Amino acid sequence: MIRHLLRDDDLTPAEQREVLDLADVMKADRYGHRPLEGPRPVAVVFDKSSTRTRISFEVGIAQLGGTALIVDAKASQLGRGETIADTARVLSRYVDAIVWRTGDQSRIEEMASAATVPVVNALTDQFHPCQVLADLQTVRERFGRLAGLTMTYLGDGANNMAHSLLLGGATAGMTVRVCAPEGFAPDAEVLRDAKHRAGDTGGSVELVADPAAAAEGAQVLVTDTWVSMGQEDDGLDRMAPFRPLQVNDALLARADASAIVLHCLPAHRGDEITDEVIDGPRSAVWDEAENRLHAQKALLTWLLDRR
Ligand code: CP
Ligand code: NVA
Repeated sequence: MIRHLLRDDDLTPAEQREVLDLADVMKADRYGHRPLEGPRPVAVVFDKSSTRTRISFEVGIAQLGGTALIVDAKASQLGRGETIADTARVLSRYVDAIVWRTGDQSRIEEMASAATVPVVNALTDQFHPCQVLADLQTVRERFGRLAGLTMTYLGDGANNMAHSLLLGGATAGMTVRVCAPEGFAPDAEVLRDAKHRAGDTGGSVELVADPAAAAEGAQVLVTDTWVSMGQEDDGLDRMAPFRPLQVNDALLARADASAIVLHCLPAHRGDEITDEVIDGPRSAVWDEAENRLHAQKALLTWLLDRR
């Protein structure tokens, strides 16, 4: 059966562990695993800008022995209105997997339903599951475990990172706290699904309005831009209500003494995170960025193993 990764809870808790274990194996020997030898081709398609996702997939696919076809959707017929389903059917005849960064989640669902190869979400408006696999790998390498740890996300609770941290963290058995300004709460269905998943894993999901209370005792603080791609002109005030959520030294002091700080990047220094924190001893953001490479190599290997 073809498996896709469209959102974080597409992996069961056991499957998530398998992918994270494999990510550690990939990291320990970056040139030693070549399951895409052939070279097997993978299409990596972008409707939105990217630095990390694009380069980590291109490098990772090459290290696995495969060939990455990086496609700017605007320069393809997809950008001129060819249907998603027809694109999926055609790409499936050429490549072994399709990785896509796009807008609404319904678009990648449509791609997956017409594709006959695995489809991977490289960020949609609603989810960023590849990022959260890397985040979980980073947390696990620092703490040796995931279950039972508290991970607090401060920022836009309705964006892709908040939703993926909720689903991915709950799958890992973590306590996931979300601290968002009024009007920026997570999607109710995602919250329900995360709570349901947490019920299976011993994790939990909490919405905490006060940033200091949300940070209190947490092992992981996570933040993200207050203005995601596509939200630049949405008419909402994405500055003033968010300022109290800034991850700075005072907020970090509320967290556990061993706490680490994550940010998927790109960062807006001085807004959601200060220079002192992102450049400080508690920052794990550069390991986190590196782990995109290892986690995605593991994910592609795992998905292609299941075909
Ligand atoms: N974190 C992340 O996905 O970065 P890019 O937008 O640069 O790919
Ligand atoms: N929430 C951000 C993540 C960027 C990697 C965005 O969608 O722009």
